[in-house]
Amino acid sequence: MDPSKSPAPRNLSLLASFKNVEPNPNPFRETKSMNLTRHVWFTGFMATGKSRIGAMVAERLGVPFEDIDHWIEARHRKTVSEIFAEQGEAAFREIEIEALRHLCAESPRVIALGGGSLMHPDAIPTVRSSGTLVGLWARPEIISARVGRKETRPLLAGLDTGTRLDKIRQLLAGRAHLYAQADFQIESNDEISREAIADRIVHLLGPWSHKALTVPLEERSYPIFAGHDIAHHLPEYCRSLGLFGKAVVVTDKNVLAAQGSVIEDWKRSWGPDLPVFAFEPGEEHKTLQDLERLFTFLLEIKLDRKGFLVAFSGGVGGDMTGFAAACYQRGIEFVQVPTTLLSMVDSSVGGKTAVDHPLGKNMIGAFHQPKLVIADSRLLVTLPKREYLSGLAEIVKYGVIRDASFFAWLEGNADACRDRDLEAIRHMVTHSCACKAAVVSEDEEENGVRALLNLGHTFGHALESITSYGQFLHGEAVALGMVCAARLSVMRKLWKPQDEIRQNTLLERIGLPTKLPLGMRVDRQAAWEMCSRDKKARHGAARFVLATSIGSAEVVSGVKFEEVDEAWKAIEA
Ligand SMILES: NC(=O)c1ccc[n+]([C@@H]2O[C@H](COP(=O)([O-])OP(=O)(O)OC[C@H]3O[C@@H](n4cnc5c(N)ncnc54)[C@H](O)[C@@H]3O)[C@@H](O)[C@H]2O)c1
Repeated sequence: MDPSKSPAPRNLSLLASFKNVEPNPNPFRETKSMNLTRHVWFTGFMATGKSRIGAMVAERLGVPFEDIDHWIEARHRKTVSEIFAEQGEAAFREIEIEALRHLCAESPRVIALGGGSLMHPDAIPTVRSSGTLVGLWARPEIISARVGRKETRPLLAGLDTGTRLDKIRQLLAGRAHLYAQADFQIESNDEISREAIADRIVHLLGPWSHKALTVPLEERSYPIFAGHDIAHHLPEYCRSLGLFGKAVVVTDKNVLAAQGSVIEDWKRSWGPDLPVFAFEPGEEHKTLQDLERLFTFLLEIKLDRKGFLVAFSGGVGGDMTGFAAACYQRGIEFVQVPTTLLSMVDSSVGGKTAVDHPLGKNMIGAFHQPKLVIADSRLLVTLPKREYLSGLAEIVKYGVIRDASFFAWLEGNADACRDRDLEAIRHMVTHSCACKAAVVSEDEEENGVRALLNLGHTFGHALESITSYGQFLHGEAVALGMVCAARLSVMRKLWKPQDEIRQNTLLERIGLPTKLPLGMRVDRQAAWEMCSRDKKARHGAARFVLATSIGSAEVVSGVKFEEVDEAWKAIEA
């Protein structure tokens, strides 16, 4: 049997039908100049054109180009083949990661990685944190033909045609999961000129320069873009991530009225028939009945499994759209374009999707990660003030539980944050999402550390519940809950009194409540029952997330009724 016709190994067939690969980049020349502020890394198997295309991209951007293999060869005064032969592959990978770290610290440039550079466990986080990772992909037959019988490829040296193709397939299968972590992928075949591929990449790098971070969940990793006036890039982002099917925008009627012009922008790219479905706004419409209307709409427009949903709303619509995507035809893709501060920093990241049930909030749902999130601060301009300020509570929370320097930044920029300064919003969103992403990637399905995200929430949920969800917005209740949690923390000697003062002062300055309305008292018994029913409770015993310093927190159990009684006094005026 001709080895070139042998069936592809499983991983390789995954790569061959790789969803992220853009098959036919449009051959057009990018004319706009772009000020590169971070590196552009090229990854892909050998002979996919990383060096040639990388150099063309560098030339178009007017920045230096580095080939990591050449860089190592120059430093070590040996060829890569010689290093391999003398020291072995493991030693070479260590040399490679050192080179990579060194290049990270250089001024922005285009860098072609080696075919196996991403194999080192530190490589992907290092590369991702310093720029955009572009993947090039080619079919094994094309790679084999390009490599030919050249002896310069240590892993293929001396092999005949058939064995070489087999070896390429085998290596590709083993590395497919690494190349799949590229921010976006472009196919480098022989039908499209290298110039056209380079132009296409330069075109995509503009919008991709707004990537704030990647939520690292292996093959379910996804980018978060943050900035002002970036929502119009959505169709471009979607295409670069392999979403070529029909897009359906799901929004709510308030967002449609306030931000409908964004959808008109998307129509320029996706066509005037772009389907738009609008829910009635509000938590009371986060139900299975409302969801069923969306399912009917999707079936009527005959959305197939290649189609995807665009959640263009706050957390209510985002949770519902994500859940619809998790269920529709057993699961389709969705993207998040959050329109409230709370949804930008919290609900759009992490993959928790749900609707409410008369017997409990968020009780019917699924974990389903989006393909991307765009946090465009300009969308918040039309958000009612109280809704905006409410979103700040979760942001202060991230500082308290995980990031002391971010907390200090919030203290120094409280006025700008409260007054919706666009750059302050971008900074807050980026840091908050990084915090949430780090927690989510450690504990995707909430079995451990993710519980820390609930600082202030046990008290807050109890307050929301005993006031029948009518008096406080979620963030307001969380802010009040954080004040109670701080008091409990100090009572238990976990936190210094001055940290309690720092937190409460920041909450106040940023525009959040730290006291109940004058004369209002918390019904201790009802609140205690709610705390014991909270999802963090174990066997009916309340557990609380308590700060241990600014920047760290822990889950504490065995808290007594009398302690909680005392903690509530912190918010009673
Ligand atoms: N999935 C998660 O991890 C997670 C985390 C936190 C909260 N949530 C959920 O999020 C929901 C709350 O989300 P929310 O606070 O964003 O509320 P929301 O979606 O109800 O939005 C608040 C209000 O603002 C309006 N609005 C939204 N964007 C606007 C804009 N740009 N201009 C004008 N008006 C706008 C909405 O129509 C609504 O009336 C809750 O259901 C909660 O359970 C989920």
